[in-house]
Amino acid sequence: MFVCICVLCVCLTAVISRNQEGPGEMGKAVLIPKDDQEKMKELFKINQFNLMASDLIALNRSLPDVRLEGCKTKVYPDELPNTSVVIVFHNEAWSTLLRTVYSVINRSPHYLLSEVILVDDASERDFLKLTLENYVKNLEVPVKIIRMEERSGLIRARLRGAAASKGQVITFLDAHCECTLGWLEPLLARIKEDRKTVVCPIIDVISDDTFEYMAGSDMTYGGFNWKLNFRWYPVPQREMDRRKGDRTLPVRTPTMAGGLFSIDRNYFEEIGTYDAGMDIWGGENLEMSFRIWQCGGSLEIVTCSHVGHVFRKATPYTFPGGTGHVINKNNRRLAEVWMDEFKDFFYIISPGVVKVDYGDVSVRKTLRENLKCKPFSWYLENIYPDSQIPRRYYSLGEIRNVETNQCLDNMGRKENEKVGIFNCHGMGGNQRLTLRHVNSNQCLDEPSEEDKMVPTMQDCSGTRSQQWLLRNMTLGA
Ligand SMILES: *[C@@H]1O[C@H](CO)[C@@H](O)[C@H](O)[C@H]1NC(C)=O
Ligand SMILES: *[C@@H]1O[C@H](CO)[C@@H](O)[C@H](O)[C@H]1NC(C)=O
Ligand SMILES: *[C@@H]1O[C@H](CO)[C@@H](O)[C@H](O)[C@H]1NC(C)=O
Repeated sequence: MFVCICVLCVCLTAVISRNQEGPGEMGKAVLIPKDDQEKMKELFKINQFNLMASDLIALNRSLPDVRLEGCKTKVYPDELPNTSVVIVFHNEAWSTLLRTVYSVINRSPHYLLSEVILVDDASERDFLKLTLENYVKNLEVPVKIIRMEERSGLIRARLRGAAASKGQVITFLDAHCECTLGWLEPLLARIKEDRKTVVCPIIDVISDDTFEYMAGSDMTYGGFNWKLNFRWYPVPQREMDRRKGDRTLPVRTPTMAGGLFSIDRNYFEEIGTYDAGMDIWGGENLEMSFRIWQCGGSLEIVTCSHVGHVFRKATPYTFPGGTGHVINKNNRRLAEVWMDEFKDFFYIISPGVVKVDYGDVSVRKTLRENLKCKPFSWYLENIYPDSQIPRRYYSLGEIRNVETNQCLDNMGRKENEKVGIFNCHGMGGNQRLTLRHVNSNQCLDEPSEEDKMVPTMQDCSGTRSQQWLLRNMTLGA
């Protein structure tokens, strides 16, 4: 050691700045040099994200503190329930899986972490076997690995992980996440306040191209469209008003994305865990969302908790039986059990779905009865009034000219414009029309001379030209 104090200072700064400047530190984007881009593209295909970039980033990389200012100073109770963190993986990359685990361990108070449970959904990659088992033995928090005997899908693998967990709360994460500073306390604090609240963090975006960390918005919440696809929508004014404009308070959300959430362990059991009759993945998030709200719980996005997730443009996995079939089956199950007569909105826009064999749902219907759950109309009225599905309507279907076999078709047009006439296609879409209770102020009006047969949408006037005869026709194909 021939260095003087001063040199030591330089070394110290060098170490610190290396940490700040290593690839991807502070959530920065990793750019791959031109010479390596061919290789990068090859590697991308394995997991459908930039594996080369991910492998360059430290497993414990630093992230920016993306929380609202008001969140940074919040104080949470000392006595919080502890949690098991359940992560299902299938052929996940080493760096993304371990970065998920490190971010949990490094950014959670250890007394709140009961354990991390990794559920291997029948991966084929060698490094996910013994190498992984040996590696996690040295981590500071117990990490348990559970292996599914055969490819079982997210739903059944999560059920297995949950059954093996010991914590008072179960926190589900995906296998390519990064938890940020202070992510856990606000989730657990909310569950401590009300054990029937199921909580989600804000899901930040980790770029699948550069692994840049980008803060998600506290101004969006979860909904769904007629096809029962989960979608993000702006938080409506009524929810801003309920929170008196305080954005650090949890947002009541009609649905959750499904990948990341915490739930009281006993409540998870009481409310019926997952629908084990669903296959692989898809629809389970809406099923759980409807079930929680209709059966007396609530679902919230805790805006002070941020967890990043790698969003991929395509899935690298194949599903036995094909993705479309699986999702149709799962959606059919959730519509049959939870949506009452409103399931017709889904069936009319996805006619193929009524032909799907969805198995036996009697166990889930019994669950709904036993829990004395409210009807779907209550959910639409009280939890999701801004839904695309109208809360009240007389009838749903197409308006067909039986002579010409042509249907009214709004041709995707807007208000006060002509409605079109088109060959009936029976696929819903622009030909699905509802006769509503609610005064939308736009009524179908008689065609004028020059329009020949083509009615227009006009402000409702109550005149004869807007009166139509309704004859009932059966739905579907
Ligand atoms: C990551 O771990 C290494 C090795 O233990 C350590 O030197 C480094 O400071 C850590 N990085 C961060 C951001 O904590
Ligand atoms: C979690 O909390 C329960 C109840 O307080 C306790 O019995 C259990 O030991 C805790 N687990 C861990 C790992 O701290
Ligand atoms: C239309 O027919 C269905 C099935 O036959 C029936 O349940 C429904 O009440 C009818 N609706 C009207 C408006 O007549």
